[in-house]
Order: sequence, then C-alpha cells, then structure tokens
Amino acid sequence: MNSNLPPSAQSPSLAGRPAASAKRGRIVAVASGKGGVGKTFFSITLSHAMAQRGNRVLLFDGDLGLANVDIQLGLIPHYDLGSVIAGKLSLNQAAMHYEQGGFDVIAGRSGSGSLANIPLSRLQILGEDLALMAARYDRVVLDLGAGVEKSVRQLARAADTILVVTSDEPTSLTDAYAFIKVTALERPNIDIRIVVNASNSPREGERTYQTLFKACQGFLKISPPLAGIVRRDARVRETIRNQTPILIRSPQSEAAVDVTAVAERLIAG
Ligand SMILES: Nc1ncnc2c1ncn2[C@@H]1O[C@H](COP(=O)(O)OP(=O)(O)OP(=O)(O)O)[C@@H](O)[C@H]1O
Ligand SMILES: [Mg+2]
Repeated sequence: MNSNLPPSAQSPSLAGRPAASAKRGRIVAVASGKGGVGKTFFSITLSHAMAQRGNRVLLFDGDLGLANVDIQLGLIPHYDLGSVIAGKLSLNQAAMHYEQGGFDVIAGRSGSGSLANIPLSRLQILGEDLALMAARYDRVVLDLGAGVEKSVRQLARAADTILVVTSDEPTSLTDAYAFIKVTALERPNIDIRIVVNASNSPREGERTYQTLFKACQGFLKISPPLAGIVRRDARVRETIRNQTPILIRSPQSEAAVDVTAVAERLIAG
C-alpha cells in the first residue's frame, strides 16, 4: 500500500512509533488546516469540559509558531515548551496546573521566540515524551498550529484521535480536506473526526459536515464521523477578550453547551 503514497508520505523521519496508550481518544489532537477557525478556543473548552466531568486532563499547546493557549487563559506560565526544547526542563516539569479549570497546561510560548523551526526528529521525540506523559492522564488535548506542514503533522502523530475543525467557509473546508488527505495517506488507520465550528445553526453545520464528508468518501475513500457542531456565538469572542474560559464566564452559552456535548461523546467513546 505504501508504494501508492507520495514520496513525502514515505519519509522515514515521519515513521513515528504509535502512541504509548492503546486507548483511542486518550490523546486528541485539534487540527484545522486553515488558521483562525477556533482550534484554541475549542481545545481549551474541550479540556475544561472533560476536567469538569472528572477526567485528569492535560492541555498541550502545540502551536509552534504562535502559541496562545496561555493568552486565552490569562495565564503567565513560569515554564514553557521553549525550555523543554532547549533541554532545560523535562516535559513533566513544564506542566502547570490551571486551578480555575481543573486541568494541567503545557504552554507553548517561548521567551526566545518561535518554535517553528524545530527539527522533525526533535518533534518526534517530543511526541513520544508526550505519549509517555499521557499515561498519567485520562485525556490529553493537543492544540495544533494551522497549516498542513510536516511539523504540524509530526506533532499530530502523538495523537490517536484527530479532530479536524472547519467552518463553513470554502477556504476552511478546502484546507481541512487538505489536512485530512495528507494525514490519511500517512496514517491510513488514524481516527479522524470532524468538528464544524462557528456554525449559524445545527442544520447549516450538518450541511457543512456533509460537504466535507462527501469529499473524503469520494476522493479518499474514508468516512470521518462528525464529532460535533459548535454554533457561532458572540460569547466566544467576549470570553477570549476577557481571557476567561467560556465555561466559567458563560457556561450556558450555545458554544459552551456544544463543546461540552463533544467532550461527553468523546468520553463515552
Ligand atoms: N463558535 C464560535 N463562535 C464565534 N466566534 C468564534 C467561535 N469559535 C472561534 N471564534 C472566533 O474565532 C477567533 C479565533 O479563534 P482561535 O484563536 O481559537 O482560532 P485558532 O484556530 O486557534 O487560530 P490559529 O490558527 O491562529 O491558532 C476567536 O477570537 C473568536 O473570536
Ligand atoms: Mg490557535
């Protein structure tokens, strides 16, 4: 089967080992292709909702270019991924407890600038360390950067489930499809599910999902299920501006309720 793959998909440097945990959905990566579709908001709220349901959760900021989990949470991390990459800290030491949310966070911001140029081999080790660390948690949520570059895909290899977030915009759908395509070529058995975010209504969200689903079925011969539809909600922007999680500031808002439903389905398996 591998001989059908493009050369980039056969690169030995991408042949990472499977995640340490056998349980599907223990490490969930949140990806998108296009930037700005709500990955970080969704990752934070998903982590929070899972923690509220008694799960031990780690949220890992895997956006190597523009990490901003800490900013959305209003956290000032003492340690971050930059220190881990520099060899000053272990991944375990870089985790901090986010008291208000009841989950742990590994911040991605580096005092020394972007982490975008880390070699793939270093990212592979990072992913393996994360998979080992995941054994101490019920769930790890990995907020990825935008794009379909190898660095993003390499980090995503740590995950056993990938949630691909899209909006109804054609650019977002196209980029989500591109991400699914390269990922499915590299990892034919990967559990990919789709999240439609900022949808005007559940019905429109369903249509958006069907568009992407049909492209995946028709061209890639895969059938990614729907993980959930998150409605467009003015509270999202407001809570981000206030650097307070939506499940604290507006727990009854539509977006909060919708992400919580995704979390519940993931927990249920
Ligand atoms: N359900 C929603 N309803 C309304 N607005 C939303 C929703 N989800 C996200 N947004 C808006 O989209 C913006 C971008 O969200 P976020 O930073 O989480 O996206 P991202 O995919 O992580 O971006 P990047 O690719 O830059 O990391 C937010 O500031 C928010 O205003
Ligand atoms: Mg983000």
